[in-house]
This record gives sequence, structure tokens and C-alpha cells, in this order.
Amino acid sequence: MQLQSRHLLGLENVTRDDITLILDTAVSFKRVLERPIPKVPTLRGKTVVNLFFEPSTRTRISFELAEKRLSADSVNFSASSSSLKKGETFKDTARNIESMMIDFVVIRHSSPGAAHYLANNVKASIINAGDGAHEHPTQALLDLMTLRENRESLKGLKVVIVGDIEHSRVARSNIYGLLTMGAEVGVCGPSTLLPREVERLGATIYPHIEDAIAEADVLNILRIQLERQGKGLFPSIREYRNLFGVTRERVERAHKPLTIMHPGPMNRGVEIDSDVADSDASVILQQVTNGVAVRMAILYLLAGGKAMAEGEEHA
Ligand code: CP
Repeated sequence: MQLQSRHLLGLENVTRDDITLILDTAVSFKRVLERPIPKVPTLRGKTVVNLFFEPSTRTRISFELAEKRLSADSVNFSASSSSLKKGETFKDTARNIESMMIDFVVIRHSSPGAAHYLANNVKASIINAGDGAHEHPTQALLDLMTLRENRESLKGLKVVIVGDIEHSRVARSNIYGLLTMGAEVGVCGPSTLLPREVERLGATIYPHIEDAIAEADVLNILRIQLERQGKGLFPSIREYRNLFGVTRERVERAHKPLTIMHPGPMNRGVEIDSDVADSDASVILQQVTNGVAVRMAILYLLAGGKAMAEGEEHA
């Protein structure tokens, strides 16, 4: 079995079979990462460009590591030191990159649709590493992988995403991916940050964090985007914490095992307390570990790799 698409632009239209293929393949690459020499020659001779037009810690390092572990040649592009600063258009940048015989482009950009634009204009396989408030598919896939490791089944699992849903590409990709895999999805946050469209997609809205915690098996807590505070989307950081902060007291009142997730970067003491982020219920660092395996799986499958047979290992 192989992936149906040569790009990964989002999870909106990715089938359950393809998500399962990516997650199963990621498990096989996690075993590679646990070897004394965590490297395979799978993508030897392939070239990847990491085009990051926005800041990133986890995604960028994780893609770079995944590429090195697969023996690909990779180059990193920084918007601040590129010819974009001299007035070159995004299209010309893309066409110039293409003429250097690139196999994959990993792109993070502030504009929704930037990855789709590249997919329509260059021959390389495109991987969306986050496009504006649209999608962040590799984050959602590593979240799904982490849930599969910690919970019996994704089917029927109640996952509540807490925070700024309106501006979150992580939320959007998680909603698509979780619903496709049969989970029940809720969202919780200030009404100004909850788009009504999520109800149409099949997610339940929780206006109160106490109700969300009472219902949830899993809380995926999003960063409150402090840079948007000037826009008056909620009165103050202190009020946000009082109304929606995932605190130890609130989690303890749930009287059941919760799984705590956060895609990072975290604002400790705002959307999540340190007591919760560092608790036994937290899988936040496991998410980061799984990011490398998931990104290896995506690169391998987009290069035409096939599903691994039972017991088969990467050479
Ligand atoms: N989760 C995530 O996308 O983090 P970075 O912005 O650090 O890549």
C-alpha cells in the first residue's frame, strides 16, 4: 500500500487508510530511532529544501533530523537572508529552487494556501509545515501517533482542544484528523476565538473549561497567542487564565485519568500550569519525540515507499 497523494498539504481530505499508513510507518521509523545508529539510507540521493518563512523550533529541527536520519541531502532557507528581501516574488523564489532539482520542499509560511500554491507551481513533493491559520498536518499526525501510544483506541476517544481555535492551524488539522479516525472532538475557549464552523465539521463546543475537563479523555491545550492580545479578543491574560487555564486544581477535580497534550511553544502559567505540563499525565515531550518518526514516515511514503510488512524492519 502507498500514499494516494505526492504532497501533504493538509488533513482535510486525507483518508483514514492514508492516515493509518502514515502512523503505522512512523512506528517502524521510531524503532529505527531507538537503534544505536539511528540512520537508514532510504532517501540517499534525494534533496529536501526546508523553506521556513516563519519562526519554528520543534517543526524545523524535527524535519531536519528526519531528513538526516533518512540520509537525504537537505538545505535550509531563511527568509531573512534570501533574495525575497531584494524584491523577488515568492513565485520566482519557488521556480529558482525548482531549477536546482529538488525532490521535496517543506514549507512554513504565514499565508494560508502557500503550500498549495507551491504544489501547483513546482514539480517537487510539497509538505506543509504550517500555513497561516489554515493547517499543520504533521503536527496533527504526531498528535495522533502519541494518542495511539497512550490510549487503547482513537475510535470514541474524547479529545477537547482548548484555546484559540480561530487562529490555530494545529486545531484545524487535529479536528480533521481526529474525526477521520473516529474520535469525538470538542473545542473550548473564549467565544471570540471559537469559529462556529467547527460545529459544522462535527466538533462540540464547550463554553466552560470545567465541563470540557469533565467530558474529556484528552486535553490538547493550545498556546494563547500573546501577540494577538492587542486586538481585544479577550480582556486580559489574567482573565483568560482564570476562565480557561488548565490548572492542577481543575485537572484534579476531574477524578479520572486525563492525557495532557500541548503542541508548543507553551506559555506556562497562562493556558497551562507547570504542575500540569510536567505531570505524569503529560505526553508533551513524547509528542516532540514522535514528530521525528512521523516526519520520516511522511518523507519515505511521499518518495514512493510502501507499507512495511508485519515484522519487517527498515534496512
Ligand atoms: N508545534 C509547532 O509547530 O512548534 P514550532 O512552531 O516550534 O515549530
